[in-house]
Amino acid sequence: MKKSLSITPDLFAGEFQDPWIDTIADDAVVLRHFALEREETLLAAIAGIAEKAPFRNMRTPGGHTMSVAMTCCGEWGWVTDTSGYRYQHSDPGSGQPWPAMPKVFRDLAREAATGAGYPGFEPDACLINRYQPGAKMGLHQDKDEKDFTQPIVSVSLGVPATFQLGGARRRDRPVNTTLTSGDVVVWGRSARMSYHGVLRLKPGQHPLTGELRYNLTFRRAR
Ligand code: SIN
Ligand code: FE2
Repeated sequence: MKKSLSITPDLFAGEFQDPWIDTIADDAVVLRHFALEREETLLAAIAGIAEKAPFRNMRTPGGHTMSVAMTCCGEWGWVTDTSGYRYQHSDPGSGQPWPAMPKVFRDLAREAATGAGYPGFEPDACLINRYQPGAKMGLHQDKDEKDFTQPIVSVSLGVPATFQLGGARRRDRPVNTTLTSGDVVVWGRSARMSYHGVLRLKPGQHPLTGELRYNLTFRRAR
C-alpha cells in the first residue's frame, strides 16, 4: 500500500510525493527515500564513529562469528560474545564509552519515528551494521530492550538488500522487501517482536559506499 508522507495533499491526484510510505505489515512501514538527502552526512558520521570504535565481527553466544561487521554509538551499545547478547556503555574492544550519537542520527531517527506514527522517540542506542557482499543477518527478534512500546527505526545506506519481516513466531512466513539507500523501516506496536533479517548481500555498487551496505538501527534500550 502506498501513501503520501507529506502533510499537504498531493497536487496531482494519482501522483505520489517523494518520500512515500509503504506498509509492509501491520505496524511496519518503509519510509522510502526518507534519508536520501542525508546520505553523505550520515556516511561521514559513520566514518567518524568507526575511527574511534572500529567495525568488528562479533561472536554469537553459539560461537559463530557474524558475517555482518558492527559498531555502535550512543549511550548504550549492543554487543554479543560467547557469554550472551547485551547492551553496555563501553566498547569491549577499547574499554572506552561508545562514541556519542551524532545529532544528524538522532534527528533522523526522531523524524522517521514521527513520520511513522511514533512521536517522541528518543533513541539511546544506535547499532551500525556493515554488510560486505555475501554478509547476511538471520531471522531474529530485537528483544534485549526494556520498553517494547518503543519502535525500531532502521536506516539503509549503500548497496540494496532484501529485508525480511515475519511475525512473532519464527515459523511465520516473512514478507520480503528491497531496501535501497535512504529507505527507513519503522516497526513497533503489534510488529515490535516480529522476526526480521537480511538476505545475503548480492554484489553491487553504490556511488558513495562501493560494494558495501550500512544499516543504522535506532532503539530505546533502557
Ligand atoms: C538488524 O535487524 O539488526 C539489521 C537490519 C538491517 O540490516 O536492515
Ligand atoms: Fe534486528
